[in-house]
Amino acid sequence: MEVIENLLRAMTLEEKIGQLTMAARGEVFPPNEASEAEVLHGIRAGRIGSLVGTHGAEVTTRLQRVALEETRLRIPLIFGFDVMHGYRSVFPVPIGETAAFDPVLWEHTARMAAYETRAAGVTLTFAPMLDVTRDPRWGRVVESPGEDPWLGAQFARAKVRGFQGAGIGMPASVGAAVKHIGAYGAVTAGRDYASVDISDRALNEVYLPPFRAAVEAGAAVIMPSFNDLGGVPTTANVDLLRDTVRRRWGFDGVMVSDFNAVAELVKHGVVDDVAQAAALALQAGIDIDMASNAYGLGLPLALERGDVTIGMIDEAVRRVLTLKAKLGLFEHPFAPELDTAERDAKLVAARRLAREAATKSVVLLKNEAGLLPLKPGQRVALIGPVVGADGLLGAWHAAGKEVKAVSIREALHLALPPGALSFAKGVDVEGEDVSGIAEAVRIARQADVVILSLGELEGHTGEAASRARPSLPGRQRQLAEAVFEVGRPTVVLLSSGRPLTLPWLIERAQAVMVLWFLGIETGNAVTALLLGYANPTGKLPISWPRSVGQIPICYSERSTGRPFSATDMYTSGYLDTPVTPQFPFGHGLSYSRVAIRNLRATPAIVGMDDAIAVEADVSNVGVMAGEETVLLFVRDVVARIAPRVMELRGVTRISLAPNASGTVRFDLPVKSLAFPAGDLGPEVQPGEFELMVGSSAEPSALVRTRITVRG
Ligand code: BGC
Repeated sequence: MEVIENLLRAMTLEEKIGQLTMAARGEVFPPNEASEAEVLHGIRAGRIGSLVGTHGAEVTTRLQRVALEETRLRIPLIFGFDVMHGYRSVFPVPIGETAAFDPVLWEHTARMAAYETRAAGVTLTFAPMLDVTRDPRWGRVVESPGEDPWLGAQFARAKVRGFQGAGIGMPASVGAAVKHIGAYGAVTAGRDYASVDISDRALNEVYLPPFRAAVEAGAAVIMPSFNDLGGVPTTANVDLLRDTVRRRWGFDGVMVSDFNAVAELVKHGVVDDVAQAAALALQAGIDIDMASNAYGLGLPLALERGDVTIGMIDEAVRRVLTLKAKLGLFEHPFAPELDTAERDAKLVAARRLAREAATKSVVLLKNEAGLLPLKPGQRVALIGPVVGADGLLGAWHAAGKEVKAVSIREALHLALPPGALSFAKGVDVEGEDVSGIAEAVRIARQADVVILSLGELEGHTGEAASRARPSLPGRQRQLAEAVFEVGRPTVVLLSSGRPLTLPWLIERAQAVMVLWFLGIETGNAVTALLLGYANPTGKLPISWPRSVGQIPICYSERSTGRPFSATDMYTSGYLDTPVTPQFPFGHGLSYSRVAIRNLRATPAIVGMDDAIAVEADVSNVGVMAGEETVLLFVRDVVARIAPRVMELRGVTRISLAPNASGTVRFDLPVKSLAFPAGDLGPEVQPGEFELMVGSSAEPSALVRTRITVRG
């Protein structure tokens, strides 16, 4: 583009490096965050090209004016912010929203978030987070789409479409910075920022597919992860970033480092000083240095030393300026002026969408003897510390505190007849005080049914929030056990950012619902589900382990030479724990019950370029109308690389009245049966494949058939 080339010619080295520098404004993380005065000074001098974490129409407009009116070249700033699950209207956290298994919903919530975000002057969101993970100890499970690469890829496409809309320059769109490429979800022992050491096959098969899908969907920006991969910090990983992502995948957008990650190459121990750190990152293809100022401090010296060339710097600047042009910043640098009527209508629509998303994200794990939905006339005791709105919006709640969040307690109170609801907190989420348990027991005794609302708070989840014991913090177990002793039918509501290992609780509760963190409409969604105005449809996007010892755990294991058998001890199991998870991937009950039968695949013998129509009959054998999400898994029966026992390749849904039946259909392209073969390139090996269809990955509940792929 001519404007960009003209700018490049006019820029000093310092101004070029400025375009590659993203500053953090604030004083929370010294020395990475600069004060207001420092930021203003840096912008005026052309030493800052973008900001992380600054949001809101007033402040972004003020700073943008400085860039446009008080700098030599008048280049607009990019404001980047973590809008992960809504800006003001906060939707369920990503692991929760993934449980909806619904790409249309995923796209809609991102679209709404993009509208609100752009209105706040922010043009780049550091989202979606696409780290596949099989380790509930890792706090960032809450931000992720769970354990499955195929599902993660669907999530990636939907979110990129939603955030970016018809183009990132449109007034209701933002650029999507997909993160954190580099198998971050496989950090050793679930400890944040720890090392990752996995095979190239696992990287290609499990961790990269969502990123590839995001690139194919046109994601504007990619952020590499903090961790190293087999000793190579991702921030300096030439093979991954330049060779795979840029060259093989054809990604021509911007790469932005994670917060301070360029300077951290020194701490990783791979370089001596920031100049070398800056050189390694630029060589790997990182265009923007987020918050470490290693480019500002180090690139001039790296250039002098000959570790980088001016051509490499120009290449990065060109990409950043191109991104600014695509974002429309040269023509529309400020937060768009919103029409008040439209804004008000959007707020109403956003709340409706937040309720829909929250309702669809809840997973009903257990419902013995039809305890749920609650019956009219029941006296309900609501017990537990996780019933308010505080600490429950989710780890990245952006500007969510600006709008009202509906709590479980207030929504239930409004929905039940006067006098039907009593409440006792019992204990706090954390802490040792158990003096409130007696009151909780007292109200449980007077009730027909108890709702026990337990879990984590948002601060227990997210970045730097790994937990070696992902269970209930504080004295919540003591509270639960005292309440179970009363013997009333008990529904447990679990708020958490990850699966919690709670076999004792799951055994004793009659019903268990996982809420994750549902956002501003938590209370209304949960109440509608509890009372049966809505029927649960959510499914686990991650296996739910029984104990920490089973982690990492996933449904899509590779076949071993000694698969577990209950009658042969020399098989792959544990002496002290069942081998199965507490609940498998895809598990989620509803108030209806479906039966799936008669799986057929046509044609049953196919060529490499064909597609297979996979159909099954589904009947609602329950008493309530409901919607069922049906999953299609595949297994390569024989392949030269030991195949996985099953892999998700299709999701569809069907709505059925009681006693009604219908047919679900998946279109399965033969190409989607490929796996990274000998040279890690995708390959479909001819032969037999098993197709499995069911409501979850529970092997005993799947219907199966086989097809043959001809060579
Ligand atoms: C996180 C990123 C985030 C960035 C900016 C980092 O600490 O790892 O996910 O986008 O901060 O807030």
